[in-house]
Amino acid sequence: MNKWGKLSMGLLLAASVLAGCGSNNNANEPAKETGNGGNAAAAKKLILGTSADFPPYEFHKVIDGKDTIVGFDIDIAKDIAADMGATLEIKDLPFDSLLNELSSGRVDMVISGLSPTPERAEAVGLSDIYYKAEQAVVVREADKDKFATMDSLKGAKIGIQTGSIQEDIAKGIEGAKLTSLGKISEIVMQLQSNRVDASIMEGPVAKSFVKNVKGLVITDAKPEVTDDGYVIGVKKGNDELLNQVNTTLARLIKEGKVDQYVAAASELAEAE
Ligand code: ARG
Repeated sequence: MNKWGKLSMGLLLAASVLAGCGSNNNANEPAKETGNGGNAAAAKKLILGTSADFPPYEFHKVIDGKDTIVGFDIDIAKDIAADMGATLEIKDLPFDSLLNELSSGRVDMVISGLSPTPERAEAVGLSDIYYKAEQAVVVREADKDKFATMDSLKGAKIGIQTGSIQEDIAKGIEGAKLTSLGKISEIVMQLQSNRVDASIMEGPVAKSFVKNVKGLVITDAKPEVTDDGYVIGVKKGNDELLNQVNTTLARLIKEGKVDQYVAAASELAEAE
């Protein structure tokens, strides 16, 4: 064997020794991980499902140059995660998909300005009420007096979010022509471009949009709802999480934190 032959033999040997080491290491790894229960607990994750089109509840805001999901629902979610010793992961999803995501276990909880309806209570676990707000009707400025009562909305073109209780309210208005859209911002655009004449939304959301969007106003019409107040959803049967959620909510309400979060988020939503 010449010099090169010996050298390549040596390299081959070295390579097989290295390979052997590698496979030994790999075999040890899973044992190491399962043996480390402390780390697994520290990595506990709570996945929030929300539809972040809903200022001041949940919305996108550029903070320090970074697109961030903020809002008072998000503040509440952070407190729940902190009380559990978990890290919060936020998934921004279409509103009408949220309860399915919950039932299939792709998210752990839904905080999204969710109103408690009997059908939802049937499908998922619902928490205690953490906040209440009224419904409002939003129209173009010139139509403010025309749509001053709920009766005046009969036959009107109304834009609402798919799967929301506002969709049900609008369905109850005689002759109304409904346009169901995935995002509140899309409804606002339809209003601006005369494709719909009115929209029904939560009062705080309506206020936030009319502050930021020129030419839109809230009318004196007052939609009546039976399901007032907002709740948090968890997967049906996940009583452990539901108890944790209710415990944190009770604390936040007692400490006046929810009202503080609402005020701060409203300010943030209205700031440029
Ligand atoms: N409160 C209404 C409902 O539960 C609308 C909620 C919409 N939420 C949202 N993040 N877009 O149906």
